[in-house]
Amino acid sequence: MAEIIRTSPHARAEHEEAGATEAGAWAVPVDPATGGGETILEVRDLVKHYPLTQGIMRRKQVGAVKAVDGVSFDLGAGETLGIVGESGCGKSTVAKMLVQLEQPTAGAIRYKGEDITKLSGRALKAVRRNIQMVFQDPYTSLNPRMTVGDIIGEPYEIHPEVAPKGSRRRKVQDLLDVVGLNPEYINRYPHQFSGGQRQRIGIARGLALNPEIIVADEPVSALDVSVQAQVINLLDGLQQEFNLSYLFIAHDLSIVRHISDRVGVMYLGRIVEIGTDTEIYEHPTHPYTQALLSAVPVPDPTAREHRERIILTGDVPSPANPPSGCRFRTRCWKAQERCAQEVPLLAVPSVFRGVDTPAAHDSACHFAEEKAVVPH
Ligand SMILES: Nc1ncnc2c1ncn2[C@@H]1O[C@H](COP(=O)(O)OP(=O)(O)O)[C@@H](O)[C@H]1O
Ligand code: SF4
Ligand SMILES: [Mg+2]
Repeated sequence: MAEIIRTSPHARAEHEEAGATEAGAWAVPVDPATGGGETILEVRDLVKHYPLTQGIMRRKQVGAVKAVDGVSFDLGAGETLGIVGESGCGKSTVAKMLVQLEQPTAGAIRYKGEDITKLSGRALKAVRRNIQMVFQDPYTSLNPRMTVGDIIGEPYEIHPEVAPKGSRRRKVQDLLDVVGLNPEYINRYPHQFSGGQRQRIGIARGLALNPEIIVADEPVSALDVSVQAQVINLLDGLQQEFNLSYLFIAHDLSIVRHISDRVGVMYLGRIVEIGTDTEIYEHPTHPYTQALLSAVPVPDPTAREHRERIILTGDVPSPANPPSGCRFRTRCWKAQERCAQEVPLLAVPSVFRGVDTPAAHDSACHFAEEKAVVPH
């Protein structure tokens, strides 16, 4: 059972030894931010601006939607980094750049030390295989006219070296088994499955090429609450089994906590706070994180009574015209003059620098302070 997957690390090693990947001999940096493990992915100052144009005959650029505007983070081998933020803050755009569905306007995405935004041809193809995406909506992301077998096996058309033609059916059946579906369903069509089962198909497709990194863009947001936990547990189990690294995107902090080692909070194209799950959930220092946490459901009624709800006023500003200085200042209850003048850097705030406290983690706020929002 699950031959391709279970032997995948060896298969991958052989494949790489044979020179099929041109990423070459890399020096893998070790980063304390990822728990001391190998850093598999380094994202630096990533930017994606979509041009805004005017005119029909001669289209003139009149501005840009700053969907992602300077995002940096590291992802460790075997680690899960959760990325959280309201709709429209740029999460999917980051995801698409990581899997090369979008070309960055600026910045670097280094996979094992090599900037993949600068690769092309065979070298790019080899790297692409190792970074796969699971999409948000299993209802629209699976082609309704293809059988499940063809959907899951489609990546082998581009990478026949992973599964020669004669072995593909068997491999797809193994993948179905790995994601908890009956291998006999191979000839069925997507409409014959429930939402949760469809997302399992999407996950099987993401695993087909034995990747090292899975970028999961809100993989459970379109599913019933009762099914969400099952899919998250499946992803959790697969990570252990195949030593995958996850970038797990969600708009809800409560969903990523269970699965994430670290969490980054995004607002209007930037990361405003990033740290371990304890640092973010129990010692948040950025007002936006504190506001998001105050909206997370608390099951215990006594705890619920004692927690403070922070209701943000105002709408999220347009990414075509973000506020000067701190982008959160138009909704921040602590905003002062300095917040309009100076962009706060994502770093350990000066008040916590050199202090041995979980509050001493990266937070882009001039007036960062601890506020335990969720009772623990
Ligand atoms: N192809 C595009 N052209 C123009 N604007 C876009 C495009 N894709 C996304 N955007 C805009 O970029 C911003 C970030 O979008 P997105 O990354 O999808 O956010 P999220 O996934 O966090 O909801 C939004 O304002 C969105 O409207
Ligand atoms: S820098 Fe100012 S506006 Fe931004 S989050 Fe901190 S206090 Fe609020
Ligand atoms: Mg999205």
